[in-house]
Amino acid sequence: MTRDARFVTFEGIDGAGKSSHVDWFAEQVRGRGHRVVVTREPGGTELAEAVRDWVLNRPMSMRVEALLVFAARQDHLDRLIRPSLADGTWVVCDRFTDSTVAYQGGGRGMPLEDIALLERWVHPDLQPDRTYLFDLDPDTAARRRQAVRDADRFESEQSAFFTRVRQAYLERAEAAPDRFVRLDGAQPIEFIRKRLEESLSGL
Ligand code: TYD
Repeated sequence: MTRDARFVTFEGIDGAGKSSHVDWFAEQVRGRGHRVVVTREPGGTELAEAVRDWVLNRPMSMRVEALLVFAARQDHLDRLIRPSLADGTWVVCDRFTDSTVAYQGGGRGMPLEDIALLERWVHPDLQPDRTYLFDLDPDTAARRRQAVRDADRFESEQSAFFTRVRQAYLERAEAAPDRFVRLDGAQPIEFIRKRLEESLSGL
């Protein structure tokens, strides 16, 4: 059995490009002989996917948003993330608590100490081993989004919202430099893959 499974998360504003790399990254991990589960937040379990549908599509206050994403996260941790890691399976997750800090904290203006409280309650003992932050200016990200899909509640937000989300991500990354790797979302896919591959070797 492969031991020392890693918990790897992908983060960034909508349209920064992270989703095109998640499956590819998991394939690289698999290619190195590890078992991998690919998952996402909000989501990853039946209950959490139902919560995702609400959070992305129904109007609600920022507190309800934060409580719902953490409720979904608790279920995801209990049923999928922790059991997988305990079993030696790597977990590659599209978004995690850094998204709550960036979107509900930076974007909506929820006090960061309130989010920290929920974080301590739900996962006091667990942080990702590595977080890839796809960083891109909000206007370029908005143009990319418009080209590919209809907007959900978050994607319909204005550029100022995403400027705050981006700033919150960058501050969070600065506070945990060992965990975060910042990737320039404006770079070509092949360039980003090369950086991901190099960084995977050190994990
Ligand atoms: P994502 O899966 O990247 O959307 P898509 O499938 O459209 O590419 O993210 C879903 C949205 O949920 C994204 O706009 C950010 C938001 N979100 C939060 O606001 N807080 C959170 O804690 C999480 C995990 C996501």
